[in-house]
Amino acid sequence: MSAPVEFKSRLGLIAATVGSAVGLGNIWRFPAEAQSGGGASFLLIYIGCVLVLGIPVALAEMALGRQAKTDSVGAFVDGAGRRRPAWGAMGALGVLTAFLVSVFYLVVTGWTFEYMVESVTGGLYDGSGTFTDKMHQYVQGSTGPLVYTLLMVVLNFSVLLAGVTKGIERLSAWLMPLLFVLLLVFCVVSLSLPGAWDGVVFFLSPDFSRVTATTVVSALGQAFFSLSLGFGILVTYAGYFPARTSLLRTATTVSLLDLLVAVLMGIIVFPAVAAFSLQDHSLAGTALVFVTLPEVFASLPATAVWSALFFLLLSIAALTSTISLTEVVIKCLIDRLHMSRRRACLLAGGLLLPLCAVCSMSMGPLSGYKVAGLNMFDLLDQVTANFMLPISALGLCIYVGWVMPRTTFMNQLTNHGTLKGRPLFRAVAMTVRWVAPPLILLIWINTLL
Ligand code: PHE
Repeated sequence: MSAPVEFKSRLGLIAATVGSAVGLGNIWRFPAEAQSGGGASFLLIYIGCVLVLGIPVALAEMALGRQAKTDSVGAFVDGAGRRRPAWGAMGALGVLTAFLVSVFYLVVTGWTFEYMVESVTGGLYDGSGTFTDKMHQYVQGSTGPLVYTLLMVVLNFSVLLAGVTKGIERLSAWLMPLLFVLLLVFCVVSLSLPGAWDGVVFFLSPDFSRVTATTVVSALGQAFFSLSLGFGILVTYAGYFPARTSLLRTATTVSLLDLLVAVLMGIIVFPAVAAFSLQDHSLAGTALVFVTLPEVFASLPATAVWSALFFLLLSIAALTSTISLTEVVIKCLIDRLHMSRRRACLLAGGLLLPLCAVCSMSMGPLSGYKVAGLNMFDLLDQVTANFMLPISALGLCIYVGWVMPRTTFMNQLTNHGTLKGRPLFRAVAMTVRWVAPPLILLIWINTLL
């Protein structure tokens, strides 16, 4: 048997895992959530959610993955001491969810890349129409989204084809530091704008009058999504962690870096919005990055440079996330169907190409084709977020908390008794057992309402 595949360096391991976590959730979802939750009051609640729910569930995924050292389906089948084939279905649900999410996430990655190119060529700032018109043109067009989406699929799979260490690890070890540098540069730019301080004050002073029960549940959901929990990504990646890696340290480092990215985004967005009096503009999702921020860039000297760098940052964040999603699928094909990595990449890539192609056009030329009133993009988004992901996350916590022997979980947390901190590890195990399942149910009910 060949030696198990493992990440080679700690930097690479952290970079790959942070690469998965840091995505559009940090960049285009967090600022809007923070705005509606009263700035720092949301931030405080969010930090609590990361500590109470995020880190323990991340540890549950990691423990399952590292002890099984196989794909998500195999981990569920063999993770509990004896074979439990029925639980394999739960692992398979995670893999299928990752596959379906990667379809529309690759489309979004394509948009960000298209925006980067259009920033460089000047198309975005040629003055023909508002940024909202431009967004419709770029997102709902026919050839643009298609070409860029397919380009992202090819880029994504060329990284996966290169393998875990030579592809995922090496790329992440380059791109993640670059992402942090870019974020810091944008913080400096944003903070140096006239009037920026008002934005900082808004972001960092709590307004508890805006906090409701929904704020807390949204913060829980945001923590879950931002840390990429429930897809089997950490199960898969932890299978590549060496035996000496401390899971607690890794989960904490990754969660804090993910949090840092969200906070830095707040420090970028709120001052910029205050400086240009764009408070009435949307800070949510596509409108924030494709309309509000281009307004900001258009008012800065060297528009094309800032705009291109920002969309580069966004593309990096998105691509490293899609890589982790598709690696879940690849690892499953390799271990379940005994395929070579090459064949697995060709098969998964071959399946994704047409699906992504159709999905990329579902906002434009194919927008007339609907299922249950939703185009393909929205359908995939809703079905995965509203049903598949919550069930898969709940299944994971029940499995690790109740089905997997507690000693197996503890052995992974303590590295077979060599790491100190038993009371903390016990608290983590208790959380996964008793606290996480009801909280996940709560998030689920909130998404359905
Ligand atoms: N964590 C990513 C984000 O914050 C989203 C994501 C979820 C990416 C699941 C991959 C898998 O945007």
